[in-house]
Amino acid sequence: METIVVEIDPLNIEESKIKEAANAIKEDKTVVFPTETVYGLGANGLSENAVKKIFDAKGRPYDNPLILHVADVRSFLEYTYISYTLLEKVERLLPGPVTFVLKKKEIVPNIVTAGKDTVAVRMPAHPVALKLIKFAGVPIAAPSANISGKPSPTLSEHVLKDMYGKVDYIIIGGLVQFGIESTVIDLTQGKVPIILRPGPIPPEKLKEIFGDIFIPEFAYGRTEADYVKSPGMKYRHYAPNTPLILVEQSHFDLMINKVLEESKNYHNPIILCLKEHANYFKKYGVNFDIIGSEENYYEFAVKLFEMLRKYDEKVDAMIVEGIEDRGIGIAVMNRLRKAACKIL
Ligand code: TXA
Ligand code: MG
Repeated sequence: METIVVEIDPLNIEESKIKEAANAIKEDKTVVFPTETVYGLGANGLSENAVKKIFDAKGRPYDNPLILHVADVRSFLEYTYISYTLLEKVERLLPGPVTFVLKKKEIVPNIVTAGKDTVAVRMPAHPVALKLIKFAGVPIAAPSANISGKPSPTLSEHVLKDMYGKVDYIIIGGLVQFGIESTVIDLTQGKVPIILRPGPIPPEKLKEIFGDIFIPEFAYGRTEADYVKSPGMKYRHYAPNTPLILVEQSHFDLMINKVLEESKNYHNPIILCLKEHANYFKKYGVNFDIIGSEENYYEFAVKLFEMLRKYDEKVDAMIVEGIEDRGIGIAVMNRLRKAACKIL
């Protein structure tokens, strides 16, 4: 398939370029576009024919539903049964890196929701994404723009590697802000919202708005998910081909010891460490790279998938140092625990 690649500077948007891509959406074609979380692989979310192409390009199983991306708050009323009181709360987080699961209206095709009576809706904050949806005049169904089972794409080289030749259009749009997928919240299970997938919007922020919030054990990535509520969790996500060993956050000496001990089991491992530990690994003469710091978990999140892709298949093991389960750290650790073949 011939893929058209265009570059758009989010700080100086050429609208004509986005309009061209929006026309492709109108013609039921597939368009990769940047969001503030990760790149998405989009198509007209009201067209079964268009949405099918997404599943084909990614090799995604049909029983894993997609997120419907919208450009305004009003669209929530159009595609879901949401009360005004709930919408007022939801609105406080829009646009942003958060997705809401709600009862779907008839107009949303079953292929988007994998036959479920709920639909996931998100209003992204990225200016290119918002304009693309607006110009297309339809909601855009989009999963992350990676081959199924690979880490989500955070850099242009990732989308080109995974999607070139498989989609009609690729919009390259600068750096992503968060590097980790949106927080997914289920608003259909009674009064208390449930976090199905932790993301950039941390539980504390959600508690401020919704009061009580339920964080199931699987949101931490420690146990298997309830597949009925959260179908996407069934598949082994973010899985590098090289074994990934996760060392959970603990006392600094203990952590470094565990990492060094584990590294002896391999010929050519890389240690993806915290900035604060780098001097120690340097001293021991082992192969390491800094993945993040204890100071700023957002930096860790934005580099996470980039690092996994960078070293996958270049080493015989990736030994990764973890952070605490707080703030966006919950999302980082959820992804790492799910990608790991061994946790220490
Ligand atoms: O940040 C993001 O959310 C990115 C960008 C492109 O927007 N998108 C993304 O999509 O991560 P995807 O398809 O990779 O992940 C969507 C998640 C999956 O875990 C899926 O199972 C869940 O949302 N989901 C979608 N519809 C659902 C529904 N009706 N009920 C429960 N979970 C749903
Ligand atoms: Mg995905």
